[in-house]
Amino acid sequence: MVDRKYVVGNLKMAMKKDDVIQYLKRINDKIYSNQVILFPSSIYIPYFLNQYYKVGIQDVHFESIGPYTGEISPSQAKSMGVSCVLVGHSERRRYFQETDGVVNKKVLKSLSEGLSVILCVGETKEEKDLLKTDRILKKQITYDLRDVDDFRQVMIAYEPVWAIGTKVVPKNQEIQKTIQYIKDLVKQEYGYPDIKVLYGGSVDAKNIDTICQVRNLDGVLVGNSSTDAEQFLHIIEVVLGK
Ligand code: PGA
Repeated sequence: MVDRKYVVGNLKMAMKKDDVIQYLKRINDKIYSNQVILFPSSIYIPYFLNQYYKVGIQDVHFESIGPYTGEISPSQAKSMGVSCVLVGHSERRRYFQETDGVVNKKVLKSLSEGLSVILCVGETKEEKDLLKTDRILKKQITYDLRDVDDFRQVMIAYEPVWAIGTKVVPKNQEIQKTIQYIKDLVKQEYGYPDIKVLYGGSVDAKNIDTICQVRNLDGVLVGNSSTDAEQFLHIIEVVLGK
């Protein structure tokens, strides 16, 4: 099988309109790959469309339509040209009290509306110190992906909560071991042997060469460093080659 790697940029709540326009001027004629997926704030999505890279949405509601002020449904996102959704990011779990039950509903609705899903999972520092990483990941993955029947449209991003925005990155050995645990788990629980697993958490232009040496890595999810056009382009170049 061809070894397809992915570079995902989670722009979070960064940038105002003028910064977005400048950012796009810097990246748009430099990215010629649909293995790059950018997740801007929803209101800026139209600016990002119609390029070689794909565009994702940072969150969706789990219903198709209804009286949910402020929310965006998977079918609305799809109708705009969005192809992918981030579900279960630790910031959503932590600051918006998203439970695994809600994450699971979002996963199922997004897939049924034809969006692909990047499911984010990861342990906190406390859980890591208590050696609970595998147990936490198993709980998140089995609950969040319950009733999924087509895994071809699902990727998992392993993002240790303690590595997000902290400039602390696990050792390559640890990343490799955890990625393998996730791949084995999905194979064992769902009979799907080819799940793509990305790493996320403080990926930047300086550490990308090292992270790329993780043998079973299928790509990276980049937060903060994706908002800097030059850093992001460098990361893409390292991961995907020229
Ligand atoms: P970071 O964020 O790269 O800024 O650590 C990663 C993420 O939240 O997905």
